[in-house]
Amino acid sequence: MSVIELKNINKDFGKGISKVQVLRNVNFQADRGELSLILGPSGSGKSTFLTIAGGLQTPTSGTVTVEGQQLEQMTAKERDELRLNKIGFVLQSYNLLPYLNVGDQFALVRKIKKNGNMTEEELRVLLKELGIETLLKHYPDEMSGGQNQRVAIARALYPNPEIVLADEPTAALDSSRVEVVGELLKQMAVQHNKAIVVVTHDLRLRNYADHIYQIMDGKLSQEK
Ligand SMILES: Nc1ncnc2c1ncn2[C@@H]1O[C@H](COP(=O)(O)OP(=O)(O)OP(=O)(O)O)[C@@H](O)[C@H]1O
Ligand SMILES: [Mg+2]
Repeated sequence: MSVIELKNINKDFGKGISKVQVLRNVNFQADRGELSLILGPSGSGKSTFLTIAGGLQTPTSGTVTVEGQQLEQMTAKERDELRLNKIGFVLQSYNLLPYLNVGDQFALVRKIKKNGNMTEEELRVLLKELGIETLLKHYPDEMSGGQNQRVAIARALYPNPEIVLADEPTAALDSSRVEVVGELLKQMAVQHNKAIVVVTHDLRLRNYADHIYQIMDGKLSQEK
């Protein structure tokens, strides 16, 4: 069974003549141990797709199933629990808390989710790998876009989620950092048996993908 499955997903915004169809009959599944890449230009529906896959938005029609549980049949509280325990999000806007330094961003995760997170040593290795180990006392507005992006990636991986949903995780990174992040996400899939789903327009990530999809005007097609 796929760890995450979208069936006949449609998403519209607005009504009547102002209705915009953002996702059209999207079918998708992701398995553990694999990195799936969804490529598409700006406005094609990538963020909408990803936030629906992770239960942050609801589709207009269709079903999303995560680890055998159909999201629309769950209560909001159950969905929150599922997200907390199983899904790591790297959102396009980084979503770091502006009033917490980097170290405290991780401390906050520990407060909300007490068990099953990376050990201190694993976190140290991860931060080093991402080249952000010296930034623990820095606040988001004291760091570059690329540094914020790497902190957001580390924060998503820290709780050890089974599923990682990443929205443009390399948009602010130079090529050498893209390689580091690509390798890291691939390693998370292969060595830690996670399902990694990345939406992006960054073609540099193609090398790391097991499956590649294109999204265009809300229609998804599989290329690999
Ligand atoms: N809440 C909303 N209300 C109305 N339209 C929306 C809303 N969210 C997204 N859209 C529209 O849906 C389309 C897809 O948006 P989405 O953010 O999913 O694209 P994207 O592929 O992530 O783009 P980008 O690469 O720029 O991040 C766009 O035309 C956008 O204007
Ligand atoms: Mg987007």
